[in-house]
Amino acid sequence: MNTVLITGGTGYLGQRLLPLVAERAHVVATARNPRALSRLYHPEAMDLCDKACVFERVLAIQPQAIIHAAAINPGVDDARMQAVNELGTQYLAEAAHQVGSRLVMVSTDMVHDGTQAPYADEANPSPINDYGRSKANGERAALAANDNTVAVRTSLIYGLDSMDRGTAGFAERLAGGDTLSLFADVLRQPVWRDALATSLLRLALDFPNETGIVNVTGSDVLDRATFGELMLDFWQIPYSSKTVEHILAADLPELVGVPLNTEMSLVRAHTLGLPTPGVREVLANHNSVNLAGAHHATHD
Ligand SMILES: NC(=O)c1ccc[n+]([C@@H]2O[C@H](COP(=O)([O-])OP(=O)(O)OC[C@H]3O[C@@H](n4cnc5c(N)ncnc54)[C@H](OP(=O)(O)O)[C@@H]3O)[C@@H](O)[C@H]2O)c1
Repeated sequence: MNTVLITGGTGYLGQRLLPLVAERAHVVATARNPRALSRLYHPEAMDLCDKACVFERVLAIQPQAIIHAAAINPGVDDARMQAVNELGTQYLAEAAHQVGSRLVMVSTDMVHDGTQAPYADEANPSPINDYGRSKANGERAALAANDNTVAVRTSLIYGLDSMDRGTAGFAERLAGGDTLSLFADVLRQPVWRDALATSLLRLALDFPNETGIVNVTGSDVLDRATFGELMLDFWQIPYSSKTVEHILAADLPELVGVPLNTEMSLVRAHTLGLPTPGVREVLANHNSVNLAGAHHATHD
């Protein structure tokens, strides 16, 4: 059986990736703190900031493929973001190259400035915030260090079996009596965690010659306010027009670093038959969405 090493096994995406990949491969799950990982997935400690540790682990495990889902997301200090997203990714790619491993790296739509949508798969990064810069630099480092690398640019990740961080934050603030102000002009392509995990697995094992950059998101382009409310409705969190207001990011000149429209074209994902169901389809059919590679595009 092939061995697949997964970084970020304790993260929101990683928690879904582990059981899915384990259906087809021997999984070694890594995180900084492996105590939070199930013993089912052969947990290993691997701090991406520790170059020697990354090389030692990868050389010992000799994975056929690595799915790199660890990252520091926005909201944490910039130095750690650069250390993990940029340097950690580079160490991992260098180690992968040394043992001939395929690398599937999870990237983000935040590498774009939001003014030139829709962005093609190979669109040059134009980040306007520290997170986007760290991920764009991580992509560049990974692609340069290991020629068998594919970087997957994705968008807001949500699940229907476990609440995503954004919705959890909204729920907490509503429960605390706050009013939410949600952007009605910030456009994203939310991606169902199960569909993204399926695509990452398929890119790792089924498409060994696909390299470069692939956009993998949901097919629906939604503004942040609409998506936020769809998630609040799904999780049955009470709100009203008094507790959730819609605002325009464009009206806030002091707001910097929020790309307005990061829509990305899904041409390559659809050519490969990767699943990209839109939010509305997932919500309507979440027990029976076809993840086998059907083409669900509404926006190509
Ligand atoms: N969430 C989204 O909406 C979204 C949108 C677009 C792209 N992405 C990308 O998707 C991927 C997964 O995101 P996520 O939301 O699932 O992440 P997450 O829940 O924040 O999890 C991050 C993971 O990274 C690990 N990690 C952090 N620092 C580390 C270090 N120094 N060494 C090793 N592991 C470390 C964490 O392990 P410890 O707990 O042990 O530190 C954790 O397992 C990331 O690449 C992210 O940039 C996410």
